[in-house]
Amino acid sequence: MFNNLCYLIILPIILSIIVFFGIQSKAPSSVILTTFVSSSVEIKRDSDGIPHIYAENLIDASYAVGYAMAQNRLWQIDIIRRTSTGRLSEILGESSLEMDIFIRNIKIPQMAQRDINDLSPEALKSLTAFAAGINDGAKSLWLLPIEYYITRSTFDEFRVIDSQASHHFLALSLGMTWGNDVLRHQLYQIFGEELEYILPTSYKYSNPKSFIISKDELPEELRGNYTNLEKEYLTENIDFDIELHQQSAGSNSWAISGKYTKSGKPIIVNDPHLATTAPGIHYFFHLYLPGNNLSGFTTVGFPFIMAGRSSYAVWIGTSLKSDDIDIFMEKIHDGKYLYGDEYLNLKEFEEVIYIKGQQPRKYIFKETLHGPILENSIIGAKKMSPFLPNVEEKNLSFCFTNHYLTDHITDYFYNIQSAKTVEELRSLIHYFDVGRISMTFSTISGDIYYQATGRVPIREVDGSLVLAGWEIKNTWKGFVTHEEMPYVINPKKGFIVTANNYPTDSNYKHFYNIGNYFSQGRAERIEELIQEKINKGEKFTAVDQIKLQQDELDIFAREGVPNLIKLLNVSKDYNQQVKTIKEWDFVMSRNSKAGAIYVVWLRQIARNLIKNKVSEDRQHAFVKSLLMQLNLYKMFTEEYPSIEKICDNPETEKNETCQEIVSKSFIEACEITEGKAWGELHAQWLRHIPFTAIPFLSKFFDRTHYVGGMYSTIHSTHFDWASESFLSAYGPEMKFIADLGNNEENYWSLNGGESGNVFSSFYCNLLESHHYGNLTKFTFAG
Ligand SMILES: *[C@@H]1O[C@H](CO)[C@@H](O)[C@H](O)[C@H]1NC(C)=O
Ligand SMILES: *[C@@H]1O[C@H](CO)[C@@H](O)[C@H](O)[C@H]1NC(C)=O
Ligand SMILES: *[C@@H]1O[C@H](CO)[C@@H](O)[C@H](O)[C@H]1NC(C)=O
Ligand SMILES: *[C@@H]1O[C@H](CO)[C@@H](O)[C@H](O)[C@H]1NC(C)=O
Ligand SMILES: *[C@@H]1O[C@H](CO)[C@@H](O)[C@H](O)[C@H]1NC(C)=O
Ligand SMILES: *[C@@H]1O[C@H](CO)[C@@H](O)[C@H](O)[C@H]1NC(C)=O
Repeated sequence: MFNNLCYLIILPIILSIIVFFGIQSKAPSSVILTTFVSSSVEIKRDSDGIPHIYAENLIDASYAVGYAMAQNRLWQIDIIRRTSTGRLSEILGESSLEMDIFIRNIKIPQMAQRDINDLSPEALKSLTAFAAGINDGAKSLWLLPIEYYITRSTFDEFRVIDSQASHHFLALSLGMTWGNDVLRHQLYQIFGEELEYILPTSYKYSNPKSFIISKDELPEELRGNYTNLEKEYLTENIDFDIELHQQSAGSNSWAISGKYTKSGKPIIVNDPHLATTAPGIHYFFHLYLPGNNLSGFTTVGFPFIMAGRSSYAVWIGTSLKSDDIDIFMEKIHDGKYLYGDEYLNLKEFEEVIYIKGQQPRKYIFKETLHGPILENSIIGAKKMSPFLPNVEEKNLSFCFTNHYLTDHITDYFYNIQSAKTVEELRSLIHYFDVGRISMTFSTISGDIYYQATGRVPIREVDGSLVLAGWEIKNTWKGFVTHEEMPYVINPKKGFIVTANNYPTDSNYKHFYNIGNYFSQGRAERIEELIQEKINKGEKFTAVDQIKLQQDELDIFAREGVPNLIKLLNVSKDYNQQVKTIKEWDFVMSRNSKAGAIYVVWLRQIARNLIKNKVSEDRQHAFVKSLLMQLNLYKMFTEEYPSIEKICDNPETEKNETCQEIVSKSFIEACEITEGKAWGELHAQWLRHIPFTAIPFLSKFFDRTHYVGGMYSTIHSTHFDWASESFLSAYGPEMKFIADLGNNEENYWSLNGGESGNVFSSFYCNLLESHHYGNLTKFTFAG
């Protein structure tokens, strides 16, 4: 019996692992491509396995990028395009059906097709070449990635629409603020007006300290007197549970003018924080064209460099976090929905989903003028893609900027590759509609330039709540024009910092339309460190930026912990821990014991505050809310309105005080952390899609690594506050530093590695280096 098992199962597994290892452990070898292209293209691999592509034009180069990417990341390319087009179930079966239904429900494939139909001929040619490159790259492989054999599936032709759909999917994941609209609605019914203290949207309570463009730097034509938009709380119950997963939308970037650098030219720095997967979404490569060389990162499924440099300019990005999705509650009767005092016909559209091993299923979705009605469809989406919430109510429509606007993002990035001046770069903004990205540029002539891209709806009422669909005034009134999106060229202060913070102060004329879900903390700290050095009269180098990216001081802790300590009343048994926290330097380093107590203390305060007021599912959603987490430290400061009423547990006769909650939570934190340092509890977690969900396989495909940091530190990581573990599934996905005055001083790294093949020595070789400042230096070809 055992022998049979050995021969039939174990031996073949061992043999195939040996074969896979033999073939896939090394980087793909260099190759010269002659089919499809107008003249031959060479792909050379360097000792880090990074492709260097030598081509005569951008279209041939797109083919080669597709080819090289398929060699490294075929399974990931397939997963991302299938996720983005609602076709996962074709290879993964019913387990991913919910996700597919959601993507079809909100019409991503239709939006992508609409955009493709309107692309310029050059952009279309490059996407076509890129798709052909992926398909030929796939054919060139001796063995498909092992995931295909485990799931018993095959690679199906990559199409042009797959590239475009992935931009909508990325925009969706960066635009998860709509979950907050629903959560705010539900919590309002419990906390009333005091909700503003917990999940602040008003400027008064969020009290931002750093703006990408400060008051005096905002271009004259963008200034105005904003109107404070009316807030309208619906009285109707929204009885479904929503899991917030907006953590992924965070990133840092900054540019320092040549005035303050040793080289005399700008230095530019980027680290986007996204859901951390194995492999990560970014792909690094170098490109050599006649008269122009490029180095940088694209996202898997797209041919052009989205963050990197050319011979003329650098461009980098972070999530702008503007509010571009609203949720409308609709009143539906007999196939019609109420709008003003009329009942309008619901539109319908049909989708067929193919499911592995089953009959295809047909779905009929309904639509109002705001957008498609959300079906009870995406429970499974949470498992596949943790930034999507659960929705169970049938009468909410999904109003998404991307439904309304035809996008030309491929034209945008096609043209950026050769743009030479700020004027040229700025003239491209008309192409950019689907992603809301804070772009920062620098040119070799020495300009630095910030541009908020994408579009923002113009509203008459506040968009941070679920809106009544039947009230005509709640319907969007159009979009802020591209020209009127915030921008600044060569700001006086000599640097530009974007870290998901408020793009402008309140003197911007569309201030309230742009939303109110911005993060603070990281931008403040980056500015503080840059300003400190400028004040000392010191000049920056690229290497200084590596250190800056690693900074783990938590500015919120520095502000908030003294107030928490004032409230603390615990027995002598905890003297040692109290001393630890009192002596803390507020650095969330791996070896910090105080850091461990602090994070868990805050988390327990959040949990205890809502425990007896909210159902268990909502508790999860609440503690997960980044808005609440970022505000928590403030709630106990003296200038903040009293939250005593919220601290009370309504289930007991006694009147509990905030002092009791703070003290009880401290004791819990001491018990949970058991004297361990933060780096003994907290790890960066790279999840393999989809095997992370299968315990046996996740051991083989996932990676973890102990790290410091938290969301609000520059070295930013983010674990799920609703879970018992401290696994950070968000973090810096890549790092990029370029000195425009010194071609030797460029640095890059990935949160993992360049290869998606689990057997490859480049699958996860960079994890420790990435987090702790051992970036790879490269010489830019000029
Ligand atoms: C804003 O309001 C002030 C006074 O209410 C007025 O003087 C100013 O011109 C207004 N600015 C703009 C740009 O409308
Ligand atoms: C929600 O829609 C269903 C039909 O899909 C309808 O029966 C129900 O009355 C609607 N609820 C509201 C609040 O409009
Ligand atoms: C601290 O807590 C104890 C009981 O746990 C209580 O007797 C005492 O009054 C509290 N001290 C202050 C300053 O509130
Ligand atoms: C509990 O006490 C605080 C002040 O100590 C007070 O502000 C609050 O209204 C009281 N709450 C209840 C429910 O009595
Ligand atoms: C830095 O990274 C390189 C490449 O990943 C590695 O070979 C080297 O050992 C690392 N050095 C340190 C000090 O970690
Ligand atoms: C691009 O790189 C190549 C090879 O290193 C070099 O010969 C060429 O001069 C560079 N082009 C530009 C525009 O600097």
